[in-house]
Amino acid sequence: MNNQHIFSKFLPKKLQNIEKTINYAPANIALTKYWGKRDSILNLPENDSISISLGDLGSKTKIELSNNDKIIFNGQNIDNNSVFAKKIWQIVNIIRQNNHIFLKITSQNSIPTAAGLASSASGFAALALALNNFFQLNLPQSKLSILARLGSGSACRSIWHGFVEWQKGKQDDGTDCFAKPIPLIWKDFRIALLEVDTSTKKISSRSAMDLCKKTSPFYAEWIKQTEKDKANLLIALHNKNFTRLGEIAENNALLMHSTIISSRPSINYLQGKSIDLINKIQYLRENGLEIYLTIDAGPNIKLLYLAKDFDQINQNFPNAIHISPFDYLTQQKTA
Ligand code: PMV
Repeated sequence: MNNQHIFSKFLPKKLQNIEKTINYAPANIALTKYWGKRDSILNLPENDSISISLGDLGSKTKIELSNNDKIIFNGQNIDNNSVFAKKIWQIVNIIRQNNHIFLKITSQNSIPTAAGLASSASGFAALALALNNFFQLNLPQSKLSILARLGSGSACRSIWHGFVEWQKGKQDDGTDCFAKPIPLIWKDFRIALLEVDTSTKKISSRSAMDLCKKTSPFYAEWIKQTEKDKANLLIALHNKNFTRLGEIAENNALLMHSTIISSRPSINYLQGKSIDLINKIQYLRENGLEIYLTIDAGPNIKLLYLAKDFDQINQNFPNAIHISPFDYLTQQKTA
């Protein structure tokens, strides 16, 4: 079964469209990570994961009618033959099928480059939301999560704000593999981004996941432990237990990196400065400041803390970019 077939049963026979739409999706950071695919075409993961969306850091995507297919990303024209453009048109074609409707897609990130955050998750999620609106499809968010997942796995979690759970599912066609929101508002929960190096990573997460799954002697253990971490994190969230949340998230990220390093040949996303920061964070914590860290497939560090500790975090990490993931709720009310 291909992607077209999976979606065709949810799409109207005759497509309608509006003139233009602009949609927004937040970036997200996993607290228990997705690492390894059971299907690399459909981006089906080996394990469940939990993330927090980053409020107003994300992507805004506009879709409008055009004379030819065109993508503008962060103000730059994108070559339609590039890997990135092909991924986008592949998703668009699932929805527009064989209709000759040409589109201009303009996507802008609100994520500062210095944050060292991937923007692909929010970009593909905003694309899925925009296609739904542009073609007036009224697809449920679970289907939009599946559509976004086809662009990049973690994008399926960016369909929602707040804490989000992505279930790996069991079906070969991925129809039960989508993310859903965890109903919890935690206004004091904070994230800070510490830049180490924002240049493009030497090995993509796709290639690294595949090599790691094939060659790491610890990969099966990673899967067992990350499923346990996910279950325990759900309990910690339910109890709003920040200490447990922080411990689980930090251990999970460090286990993912240890597993990545154990690939053959070894892959290492961490740099000297990342290790210095890990030591500094753990030292500060041993001395009473309650902060935890997480790290994605790159060298940059993300801090997890509570609002009451802002001043101390700011003193120790003056260049950090701070995020209040639940501020979007207040912004929505005042908009
Ligand atoms: O969705 P991708 O292909 O960018 O992979 C994301 C992998 C991690 O960021 C390391 C973990 C995660 O769950 O986001």
